[in-house]
Amino acid sequence: MDGSRAPGGSSSGALPRFPAGFVWGVSTSAYQIEGAVDEDGRGRSVWDAFVERAGRVKDGSDGRVATGHYQRYREDVALIEELGVGAYRFSVAWPRVMPDGGPRVNAAGLDFYDRLVDALCAAGVRPVPTLFHWDTPEAVEAAGGWLERDTASRFAAYADAVAARLGDRVDRWITLNEPAELTLLGYGLGQHAPGRELGFGALPVAHHLLLGHGLAVQALRARGAGGIGIANSHGPTWAASESAADQEAAGLYDLLLNRLFAEPVLLGRYPEEELTAPLLSGTGPVDEDLRIIGEPLDWYGVNYYQPTKVGAPAAEGAGGGDFAGIELPPGLPFAPREIEGYPRTDFGWPVVPAALTELLTGFRDRYGDRLPPVVITENGCSYDGVGDRERIAFLDGHLRALHDAITAGVDVRGYFVWSLLDNFEWAEGYARRFGLVHVDYDTLVRTPKASYYWLRDALRAQR
Ligand code: BGC
Repeated sequence: MDGSRAPGGSSSGALPRFPAGFVWGVSTSAYQIEGAVDEDGRGRSVWDAFVERAGRVKDGSDGRVATGHYQRYREDVALIEELGVGAYRFSVAWPRVMPDGGPRVNAAGLDFYDRLVDALCAAGVRPVPTLFHWDTPEAVEAAGGWLERDTASRFAAYADAVAARLGDRVDRWITLNEPAELTLLGYGLGQHAPGRELGFGALPVAHHLLLGHGLAVQALRARGAGGIGIANSHGPTWAASESAADQEAAGLYDLLLNRLFAEPVLLGRYPEEELTAPLLSGTGPVDEDLRIIGEPLDWYGVNYYQPTKVGAPAAEGAGGGDFAGIELPPGLPFAPREIEGYPRTDFGWPVVPAALTELLTGFRDRYGDRLPPVVITENGCSYDGVGDRERIAFLDGHLRALHDAITAGVDVRGYFVWSLLDNFEWAEGYARRFGLVHVDYDTLVRTPKASYYWLRDALRAQR
C-alpha cells in the first residue's frame, strides 16, 4: 500500500497499469433507469406498488419515467461506446419478460433486451445482463414472494426464457444482485419493496434467493451458457474496539451481511450452522439445496461501497441505530459506530478505498482456491455537485486500491462503475446522483460529467 495517499483517496498522476484483458464496465439496473412501466405488455413489479405507498420514497418520486432509457437506449449505448469501456452491466426486468411472473412469456418485453444487446454488440460493448435486480413481479409477490420456496423455481424458468432469447450473444451472466439487501431492506426492515418488516423472520428469503441463484445457474448451463456469476454486496466489518463484546457484535454483523451470502455460494454450506440453520428453517431440505447453491461459478461479483464499524449495543436491548442511512430497529445484538477521519459522499457514506483492498485480500485469505476470479460489479458514489472533483477522487482512489489487491495476488478480472447515469436511487428517489452522466429529470437530457471524461482518458492511457 502507498502510505502517502490521503485517507479518502487519490494521488495524482496516471493510474497503475491493470492486467491485459481486464474488463472495464459501467452498471445500471432496469427499474432505476428504464421508465416505460406500462409499455409493451410489462407487468407490475413490487417496486411499482411500493412507490405508491405514501412516505416510502423520500421525495415521493417513482420509476414511471426514470431516465427514459427504454426509449433512449441507443443514446445510452453511444455514451458507453464513447466512454471506451468494454462491457455494460444492465438488468433484465422479470415483469417485462413474464408479466405474471410466468409461465407466459411476453415476446415484446424480450424484444427490448434483444434490441439493446444488438446495439451493444454493434458498438463493440459486451452485454452483461443481471437477471434480477429486485423487481419481483407483483404476481409472484402476491403468492408469497421470496418467502415462498416455489419462487426460486419460477425464477429459474424465467432465467431459461431469457437465455433462450439472448444466449447466442451473451457470454457473461449475473443471476442476482445483492440478495443481502433485498432480504434485509425488503423483507426485514421494510425500507425497500416489498416493504415487509419481518426482522430475523426474513431469513428464509435469503435461502430462497440463493436457491433461485443455484437453479438459475443450472438453467443457464442447460442452455449452454458460460461465464456465470452473482453480484453480492460486501464490505469489511470493523469492530469498534478490541473488547470481547465489540468483537462478538462485529462478528455477528459480518456473519449476517457477508458470510451468510458468500459461503453457501463459495463453499456450499452456511456459516455457523447451529446459529443460522434455525433462522433459515421452514425452507425445506437445506442440504440438498446447498449442493445446488454451491455449484462452482465462473467468477464472483462484488459490489463494494464502504466498510462498517460495529460494536456491542450500549445497553441491554439498545442496538439498532443509523447504518449509512438505513434505520435499524432497537433490540439488535449489534450497533453502528461512526467511522471518523475519512471524507464522506453527499449520501454520508465514508470514502475508504483501502477497505476495498482489505476486503479482497480478506476474501482470498478466507476462501483460498474456492474463490473464483473476482469482478467488482459495482463501486461508485453519490455527489450532487457539477464540478465532480470528488467523484474523480473516489474512482481514482478505489482503482488504486483495487490495483493494490491485484498486486497482493488477488485474481481480479474486472471493474464496473455504479453508475452510467444518475437514476432512481430506490427509497432515496432522485436525490442521490451516482452517475458518470448527469440526467436532467425535466428534459431527460444527458450531460457527461467531468468524471466521465476522466475515466475515458484513464482507459485510453491503459491502452
Ligand atoms: C444497488 C444499486 C444502488 C447502489 C447505490 C447497490 O446496493 O445494487 O441498485 O443504486 O447500491 O445505493
